[in-house]
Amino acid sequence: MGAAIVRLNRIAPTLLAAAAFLLQPLTAVAQQQKPYEPQVGQAGKDVIWVPTPDEVVDRMLRMAQVTKDDLVYDLGAGNGKIAIAAAKLGARAVGIEYNPDMAKHAQGNVVAAGVADKARILQGDIFATDFSQATVVTMYLLPGLNMKLRPTLLSMKPGTRVVSHSFTMEDWEPDEISSMDGRRAYFWVVPANVNGGWALETGSEKNELVFEQRFQKIEGAIGLGHTQGGLRDARLHGFAISFAWVDNNGVLRNFTGRVTGGRMEGSWKGDNGTEGRWTATKK
Ligand SMILES: C[S@@+](CC[C@H](N)C(=O)[O-])C[C@H]1O[C@@H](n2cnc3c(N)ncnc32)[C@H](O)[C@@H]1O
Repeated sequence: MGAAIVRLNRIAPTLLAAAAFLLQPLTAVAQQQKPYEPQVGQAGKDVIWVPTPDEVVDRMLRMAQVTKDDLVYDLGAGNGKIAIAAAKLGARAVGIEYNPDMAKHAQGNVVAAGVADKARILQGDIFATDFSQATVVTMYLLPGLNMKLRPTLLSMKPGTRVVSHSFTMEDWEPDEISSMDGRRAYFWVVPANVNGGWALETGSEKNELVFEQRFQKIEGAIGLGHTQGGLRDARLHGFAISFAWVDNNGVLRNFTGRVTGGRMEGSWKGDNGTEGRWTATKK
C-alpha cells in the first residue's frame, strides 16, 4: 500500500502535466472561436464606432429615395447595417470599413441577413478607396471628415445623392434636413457645374447667358442687346436646371433643361403661349 502511494505521488504530476498539455490546444481553439464582438465607442482609424439607430438609417435611405437601380456606398460601414438596409430595399450596396475585424464581422452580418448577393463590405480606408460609381453615399463620420470628403463628393456625377447622419458640410447647405428623436440627417444632391458664360440658342435667336454658382444655388443674367436681363427663379437640382427671363417684348419665358458637361438643352414656354426648344454651350 505504502509503495503504491509513493508510486502515485511520483506519476501524478506527470499525468497532470500531460492533461494540461492536451487541454491547452482545446482552450486556445475555444478562445479563437469566440465571435468578435464590437464595442460601441471602440476606436476607429479616423472616428470611433457608434451605430446609426434603425429609424435614422431608414430615413437616410428614404431621403435619398434609394431603389433597386442604386449603388449605395456607406463610408465607414461599422457593423454593415446601412449597407444591409440598402440591400433590403433592392439596391446594390458597398460598405467601406477600415477595421479588419469589424469589416469581417460586418460581412458576416451581410451573409446572415441574406443579402450577400446585393451587399458587400470592403476593408479599406475611405480616403483611399474609389467610390466614384456610387449613386448614393451615406456617412456617419465627423464634421472635419465630411469637409475632407467634400471636394470628392462635389466632383461626383451630378445627381449623386449624399446623406450624412448628424454632421453638415458647412456652407454647402443641405437640400433637406430631417429630424428624429433629437438626431438629424442631412441630404444633398451633387450639382452640375454651370458657373460662367453660356451661348444660348432659342430657335434662330442667340443670347449670352451667365450664371454665378455657389454649390446648388445659382443666379444669373441674359444679354438682351444693351440690357442685362436678370434671371428669375433660377434653380439647379443635380443636372436639372430651370430659369426664367422677360424678353424685350415683355414675354416671360420659362426654361427647363438638363446639363451634360459643357452643354445644356431643354424646352421653354412663354406666358403668351409661345414655346420651343433651346440649347446652350459653355463659353
Ligand atoms: C460612427 S461609425 C458609423 C458606422 C455606420 N456607418 C453606421 O452609421 O452605423 C464610423 C465607422 O467608420 C470606421 N472608420 C473610421 N475611420 C475610417 C476610415 N478612414 N476608413 C474606413 N472606415 C473608417 C470606424 O471603424 C467605424 O466603424
